[in-house]
Amino acid sequence: MTKTVRTCGKLYLAGEYSVLTTGQGAILKNISIYMTGEIHFSECYQLFSDMFDHAVDLTPDDDYHLIQDTVAVMDEFLQSRSISLRPFSLTITGKMERDGKKFGLGSSGSVVVLTIRAITALYGLALSADETFKLAAYVLLKRGDNGSMGDVACIAYEDLIYYQSFDRQKIAEQINESPLKQVIAQDWGYVIRRIQPQLTFDFLVGWTKEPAISRDLINQVTSAISSSFLAQTQEDVLRLEKALLAGEKEILKESLEKVSHLLMELSPAIYNEKLRALKRASQGLDCVAKSSGAGGGDCGIALSFDSQASEILVERWQVAGIELLYREKL
Ligand code: PMV
Ligand code: MG
Repeated sequence: MTKTVRTCGKLYLAGEYSVLTTGQGAILKNISIYMTGEIHFSECYQLFSDMFDHAVDLTPDDDYHLIQDTVAVMDEFLQSRSISLRPFSLTITGKMERDGKKFGLGSSGSVVVLTIRAITALYGLALSADETFKLAAYVLLKRGDNGSMGDVACIAYEDLIYYQSFDRQKIAEQINESPLKQVIAQDWGYVIRRIQPQLTFDFLVGWTKEPAISRDLINQVTSAISSSFLAQTQEDVLRLEKALLAGEKEILKESLEKVSHLLMELSPAIYNEKLRALKRASQGLDCVAKSSGAGGGDCGIALSFDSQASEILVERWQVAGIELLYREKL
């Protein structure tokens, strides 16, 4: 019998770069653009993703290492529950890209969560969002990922969340020293809170069609992160969370403008020309727009409080060569 699972995309609203420092927070939103996984037991292992033009087994393959590493961790996880992994076929579709250009919705985090969901579905195991997050973060940390893990938190919870980062270095060391079961059972020290917004707005995503590599941007920007950037960003991330929860539009707009401004000051690499145009398009309208994630391309976001403003914004984006990738009414 075939089991089908799916995972969403994610985008940052606030807290980028800051959340890389332990204890700092970010706000991320799930994006309903999905990756699908179909899994069933089979004679031998077969992994296929529509990102590539070939299928593989568990023999290490350059294209499939992320999926294969996830399978290896899940094998260990199942063993810790006295289950032995049997061969399966997993087919992954819904590459978050067009014409070979990624959207920047967190496809690598999404594929890890998808593989975890597929294997647990195959064995009829129900994992909580939190257990799924920890396993996905475990896979990424074991691989030496330099991210905050905010992406996998959002994708595992599939919700608008506040995410506060944990000491990834410490957990990575424990992964090297202790069995998976023991590491997973510990309190890692992160905070994840779901946010139910109490105001209505259009959530718009503008795609620059310029793929950016987060890892490179992080390496480029990290040295500029100061304690004052961290303190100011954290203050407005928390203000944004409160404003969403209390339905305070003006504070929401102010806090997003503030974190956007802080990013602009942090490094010129973040707001490239397209993202500056994306932000400029919100001028004079009842909306707020900013870059999302590492910047340098990928997507930007806008929160619009007036449907006519949304239309004008989208038109201005179009003129600037920015495509409306996603739209949701909250
Ligand atoms: O561009 P993205 O979606 O990969 O976001 C990166 C956000 C950073 O804060 C810059 C890095 C991270 O892992 O949190
Ligand atoms: Mg990005």
